[in-house]
Amino acid sequence: MQYSFLPFFFITYFFSIINLPFSLRADDTVEYANCSQPITCGSVKSNISYPFWGANRAEYCGKSGYEVTCQADAPMITMRNITFRILDMSSTTTPTVKVARQDYWGTICPPTYVPTNLIFSLFNYSSGLLNVSFWYGCNTNVTAVAGNSHFCNSSVTATYLTQTQTRASNASVDPVTTGACQYKVMVPVFESASEALDNNATDIQTAIDGGFELDVLDDDTGLCEICVASGGVCGQDSTSAQFICFCQDSSSTATCSENSSTIPTSSGTGT
Ligand SMILES: *[C@@H]1O[C@H](CO)[C@@H](O)[C@H](O)[C@H]1NC(C)=O
Ligand SMILES: *[C@@H]1O[C@H](CO)[C@@H](O)[C@H](O)[C@H]1NC(C)=O
Ligand SMILES: *[C@@H]1O[C@H](CO)[C@@H](O)[C@H](O)[C@H]1NC(C)=O
Ligand SMILES: *[C@@H]1O[C@H](CO)[C@@H](O)[C@H](O)[C@H]1NC(C)=O
Ligand SMILES: *[C@@H]1O[C@H](CO)[C@@H](O)[C@H](O)[C@H]1NC(C)=O
Ligand SMILES: *[C@@H]1O[C@H](CO)[C@@H](O)[C@H](O)[C@H]1NC(C)=O
Ligand SMILES: *[C@@H]1O[C@H](CO)[C@@H](O)[C@H](O)[C@H]1NC(C)=O
Ligand SMILES: *[C@@H]1O[C@H](CO)[C@@H](O)[C@H](O)[C@H]1NC(C)=O
Ligand SMILES: *[C@@H]1O[C@H](CO)[C@@H](O)[C@H](O)[C@H]1NC(C)=O
Ligand SMILES: *[C@@H]1O[C@H](CO)[C@@H](O)[C@H](O)[C@H]1NC(C)=O
Repeated sequence: MQYSFLPFFFITYFFSIINLPFSLRADDTVEYANCSQPITCGSVKSNISYPFWGANRAEYCGKSGYEVTCQADAPMITMRNITFRILDMSSTTTPTVKVARQDYWGTICPPTYVPTNLIFSLFNYSSGLLNVSFWYGCNTNVTAVAGNSHFCNSSVTATYLTQTQTRASNASVDPVTTGACQYKVMVPVFESASEALDNNATDIQTAIDGGFELDVLDDDTGLCEICVASGGVCGQDSTSAQFICFCQDSSSTATCSENSSTIPTSSGTGT
């Protein structure tokens, strides 16, 4: 029985003699360096980090579902066929991202009319948002929606109302249901932007381009906080898909001990 372990033992011994680190985690320095960088698109550095990966961040720097791509130097995340431009990230107790629909970026006349859809296992709407409703393809002969009109081109008009205006309009039946309009798209905005629209203090494009906030739903947020506080960077073990804390010269499942002259212990936490 023991003979089968003998060759392996000699190989290990050989490598320790010539002072090569013989470890499954020999690349930790590389992983630490890679995951220390936030997403950078072109020359534009963002503050988007764990659980996001993609672009200059390797897959092990984040979690599946949180892949970021760059389009024209801007970070994007795509879910349910909608591409969201990521405007900012805040990594506090509950990490959040500020996003805007890319198809509404700089225009309220998108090429197709797709509802705002999230993958609710990955994200949730933050509090303090209100929807702006847009209607397209409305019958111009009747007042389908008593809303604000914006002419996209000779054949397309966007009609929109803030949530407060929609409530005040008493429209008990949605114009799409009655057939007066063909499409409806709801886009969330910050409450403050919605109020500014109600007070004519801003324009619709500025309000929409201001984006809205999403909570990032990651079970390992607590572990990541501990890891970062200990000087590590958060990531995911490529093999086990478990949370991992990459440290400058070693790694652990939870924290980077300052006193790492000793063998790093894996201090896994329950739940
Ligand atoms: C991080 O890893 C990714 C994927 O392997 C690679 O494309 C990128 O260049 C690396 N970045 C750094 C700063 O090493
Ligand atoms: C995404 O779009 C493709 C084609 O445009 C369609 O086949 C697919 O069902 C869409 N997926 C979702 C989740 O809407
Ligand atoms: C993210 O970075 C931008 C500029 O790079 C900065 O304006 C913003 O305040 C940062 N956000 C957070 C939450 O740190
Ligand atoms: C008007 O704009 C829509 C997109 O909003 C486009 O699909 C349509 O082809 C345009 N029509 C004309 C006449 O330019
Ligand atoms: C998502 O947000 C809604 C409304 O704030 C809340 O009721 C719900 O519990 C949240 N879901 C998760 C998974 O956090
Ligand atoms: C906005 O509309 C979406 C559906 O498109 C809905 O899930 C969300 O709860 C609405 N938000 C508010 C603040 O009403
Ligand atoms: C709108 O009214 C005009 C003239 O009254 C009529 O020719 C046209 O067919 C109407 N359009 C629709 C969509 O009902
Ligand atoms: C909505 O209904 C209320 C009460 O029924 C009425 O006072 C108000 O004028 C109505 N608003 C519109 C825009 O019709
Ligand atoms: C905003 O402007 C619209 C149209 O110009 C007007 O009907 C409305 O009373 C204005 N609202 C406020 C709060 O000034
Ligand atoms: C590391 O060592 C210093 C001094 O040797 C000690 O004060 C500190 O508590 C140790 N930290 C940990 C995490 O063991």
